[in-house]
Amino acid sequence: MDTRGREFLKDGVRKSVDFSRTPQARGIEPPPPQKPPRPGERIIALSPPGAWRTVPKLGLEEAIARRRSRRDFLAQPLSMEELSFLLWATQGLRPGSPPGGNFRTVPSAGCRHALESYVAALRVAGLAPAIYRYLPLDHALVEAVRPADLAERLVRATFGQRFCGEGAATFAWTAVPARMEWRYASASYKVIALDAGHVCQNLYLAGESIGTGVCAVAAYEQDLMDELLGVDGEEEFTLYLAAVGKR
Ligand SMILES: Cc1cc2nc3c(=O)[nH]c(=O)nc-3n(C[C@H](O)[C@H](O)[C@H](O)COP(=O)(O)O)c2cc1C
Repeated sequence: MDTRGREFLKDGVRKSVDFSRTPQARGIEPPPPQKPPRPGERIIALSPPGAWRTVPKLGLEEAIARRRSRRDFLAQPLSMEELSFLLWATQGLRPGSPPGGNFRTVPSAGCRHALESYVAALRVAGLAPAIYRYLPLDHALVEAVRPADLAERLVRATFGQRFCGEGAATFAWTAVPARMEWRYASASYKVIALDAGHVCQNLYLAGESIGTGVCAVAAYEQDLMDELLGVDGEEEFTLYLAAVGKR
């Protein structure tokens, strides 16, 4: 058995990084904390945090106790307010984040937030079926791509996991490594993966609190998912997915 991959889980790599030569130490501007909308991309406003009317408040203890992976979903759509809540809970700015700050509802190593969030909306009231990208700093969506056969392509890109095309939406998080590399160079990769875990756990708990099932998915075909999201596979690539649906 090849166990060399174990090294990825350790922090030995840090000793080999010359932190005086990182882009940050060399005075290079950090990459933008959010992929900017492309010219002409339509910005879709989301329901703002604090003003939700339909999002029930389930106690945290109960949400934690009920959390489990759910793969059977009803045909019922998610409302825009529910989607807004799930996006905010997973990547949104936390209330009181200072102007120009990038403090979110989830932690991130060095506050670098090297993830982008995509939502393949299959059944979201008011949204045409398409893949949307979340802009955390604006709490808004942009339509990224509108592929034909979205549900089928999601299933195909996840090795036939049918529930990935059966829910109301499938979330996909990509990594933009340069954001983390700017500070941590080759010590970036493990912490990007750790960051993704926090994001998906918040999705599980937020989903539980609104009667929405969630199942994390790390088994996917890299090329097919990258192609579906319209990302280049080098500077940005798929890292983690989660199917979401009413139950
Ligand atoms: C990193 C990670 C990857 C996972 N990938 C998949 C997956 O590809 N397909 C799937 O059906 N479940 C996936 N799961 C869900 C696990 O199977 C599930 O968490 C586990 O069986 C425990 O069940 P529970 O979440 O209900 O406690 C994944 C979970 C994690 C944390």
